Amino acid sequence: MSIPPQNGWEGGRLLIDLAAIAANYMILHSLAGPQTEAGAAVKANAYGLGLAEIAPVLYEAGCRTFFVAHLAEGVALRRLIAPDSRIFVLHGPPPDTAPAFLAHNLLPVLNSLPQVQEWQALAQNEKSALPAALQVDSGMSRFGLTEDDVNALRLNNGLAGIETILVMSHLACADTPEHPLNRHQLDTFERLRKRLPPAPASLSASSGMFLGPDWRFDLVRPGATLYGINPTPGQPNPMQPVIRLQARVIQTRHVPAGAHVGYGATFVTQRPTNIALLGIGYGDGFPRRLGGKGVAVFPEQPDIKLPIIGRISMDSLAVDITDLAGLPPAPGVAFDLIGPHNPLDETAFLADTIGYELLTDLGSRYHRTHHDPRKG
Ligand SMILES: Cc1ncc(COP(=O)(O)O)c(C=O)c1O
Repeated sequence: MSIPPQNGWEGGRLLIDLAAIAANYMILHSLAGPQTEAGAAVKANAYGLGLAEIAPVLYEAGCRTFFVAHLAEGVALRRLIAPDSRIFVLHGPPPDTAPAFLAHNLLPVLNSLPQVQEWQALAQNEKSALPAALQVDSGMSRFGLTEDDVNALRLNNGLAGIETILVMSHLACADTPEHPLNRHQLDTFERLRKRLPPAPASLSASSGMFLGPDWRFDLVRPGATLYGINPTPGQPNPMQPVIRLQARVIQTRHVPAGAHVGYGATFVTQRPTNIALLGIGYGDGFPRRLGGKGVAVFPEQPDIKLPIIGRISMDSLAVDITDLAGLPPAPGVAFDLIGPHNPLDETAFLADTIGYELLTDLGSRYHRTHHDPRKG
């Protein structure tokens, strides 16, 4: 008889709070106000946290416009949510794939003249205008039609066959409100969109929404904030935390002062030290850069930040637990590596990265629980 995997058989667990995601969507929905639709970016498997579980929760919360990066992600999402929802594929149609968009009820974001032409060719075949979003590059030099492209399209009736249902662009520095590029991109977006067919407009994702009403237009496309990342770095986080990452104790040990810890012997104890070896490492997507920098928290003594010492191994890491009161925690006990006292953004900062990368790197090795406290 085969026994299915159980919680506790892995080195760690990842708890994903679906109610917090729904609550974050509602916070963004009310910030957007009655004139602005709140969509949701669910690309990269809903920022690594599970498209299959999260997309229906967002739909239930009222979201009807979703953004993914790739056609393949769009196809996967279409199977999960009702046909009355719109799915925009941000990267547009890869060469020769336009018919797949129709087959799967997906909307392309057209970013370049070749993508416009690809969509037009399909419209000609179908003998009907086809809906699409047009992206303009307002100053990030990433995706989108340039000013010259927009002018060329205008002069040559170059949008024949395309029903423009959204004109969009993306901000490069929205998490730095004082950055002059924000205003420059807003002005450029306003200018370019007037040269395109009248259509609803979208400029902002998470942080852009917090720049003020001028940046919100008809539709916003938040992603990170839904998953608990702070859209206003340096200020209190207005969003609810969504994840808790816990690693289990494999063994504890007592070592004298002068002991080497971990690969490369980069850490040498300065005092007699109690060490807990926890069952998460870089093979779980936990950043190796947190060796000597990150902190773990024992939930029963949450005020003590326990340093991760030495290099992080593939499957484990070492924590100095000398300062904990009482006996060392037993094997199997869970420590927070990301939790209420060592939150996602702070952990990402210590790893010299951003919450986005930390989330999307978390692997499939954890015991993952999608919990919805609203449903018990
Ligand atoms: C075009 C576009 N829209 C929306 C988003 C969502 O951004 P955020 O996660 O910062 O809310 C992204 C993310 O990279 C994006 O590229």
